[in-house]
Amino acid sequence: MERRVFLQTMAALWGIPFERIAHWEQPLSPPADDADEEDFWGWVRGEFPLHPSLINLNNGGVSPHPRSVWEALFRLELSANEAPAYTMWRIQDQKEPIRQRLAAIAGVDPEEVAIVRNSTEALETVIFGLSLRTGDEVILAESDYPSMIAAWKQREARDGVRLRWVRLPLPSDEEEKLVLPYLQAITPRTRVIHLTHLVNWTGQIVPVKPIIAEARKRGIFTLVDAAHSYAHIPVDFHEMGCDAAGVSLHKWLCAPFGTGLLYIKKERIAEIWPLFAAPSERKKEDIRKFEHLGTRSIPTEQAIAPAIDFHHRIGLARKTARLQKLRSYWLSQAIQLPKIRSLTPEKLAAGLATIQVEGWEPQKLADHLLEKYRIFVAAIDWMGIKGIRVTPHLYTTEQELDRLLEALRQV
Ligand SMILES: Cc1ncc(COP(=O)(O)O)c(C=O)c1O
Repeated sequence: MERRVFLQTMAALWGIPFERIAHWEQPLSPPADDADEEDFWGWVRGEFPLHPSLINLNNGGVSPHPRSVWEALFRLELSANEAPAYTMWRIQDQKEPIRQRLAAIAGVDPEEVAIVRNSTEALETVIFGLSLRTGDEVILAESDYPSMIAAWKQREARDGVRLRWVRLPLPSDEEEKLVLPYLQAITPRTRVIHLTHLVNWTGQIVPVKPIIAEARKRGIFTLVDAAHSYAHIPVDFHEMGCDAAGVSLHKWLCAPFGTGLLYIKKERIAEIWPLFAAPSERKKEDIRKFEHLGTRSIPTEQAIAPAIDFHHRIGLARKTARLQKLRSYWLSQAIQLPKIRSLTPEKLAAGLATIQVEGWEPQKLADHLLEKYRIFVAAIDWMGIKGIRVTPHLYTTEQELDRLLEALRQV
């Protein structure tokens, strides 16, 4: 009854008919561990509020969150709104258990994890927080994320830091070929290597560990953009060996929009300046100095907890395998069609993949798929990488991917 009233209230607030969400009234109970695949993924699909008329194959940009997360979010928000200063700051603001659980997923110590709003905030905290001098060199790739490139260019313009660019041979399943350009760019003046673990344009996984190992030998700081890898493929920052990393929790963890994680190795915390100055009583080596943001949404942060529950309910290995299976289902058939070429490697990839379709500009094709077939994909046009990126999610079915394949056949 309580659930029904809650949903009726939400439907009224959203201005949508209750019938559209009535099927959420009875929570579907998770199937037993030995349930067959179809039942299990059917349950997962039922947990996501799907768009009524769109096949969403752009889950790489940002992920929807499952029912347990948005319900928690709305409950927290409703309750916070009754007396915000009291409820948010005295009752709801319980970061530590969340910090511990996020750290455990990344194989690190909670004292190395700050909760921030997204990868951009996490990575730029480090980019702007490192003490670098004129002439110090930073290695980065042309295929890194544009906001991170912009941040490094700002340091170049402001502080005279020199940027050394790497061009990766994308796509590639040969680890040495991906590692070599970084090693060749190292000079005695190299201070930082910026690495993207899973390249958003094509889904390429970059073997960052051997690059980091070489950097460590030379005392070079390594920063990993793990926006797309955390909670998608196995990520263990200690094992990886990097000094710092940034993650968006609203991608593969399915946490609320505007949630992220900053990892900094314990012994490196003291040397990095926070982007928003922390009060003087906060010790330099305390990771919480990076959380001094001012007023922010505590309900949003707290609703990371049910996203972690959901992640563990499925299990990382099962998530990775499912996303890889869906990718190979559509991609292996798509590349049989004339004029279609994969820009994604076969082995070093997970859920994201990009294809080039001869004769079509990426945005034109993405618009065509949306307008004619109601299929939403991402247009990619960056440094010569031109295509459409297709990112299924855990809730995606093979039938939906068949619709994409049929559309591509007609195209
Ligand atoms: C590789 C990579 N890095 C960083 C980001 C920035 O993430 P956010 O917008 O959550 O800060 C993205 C976003 O798609 C990304 O793909």
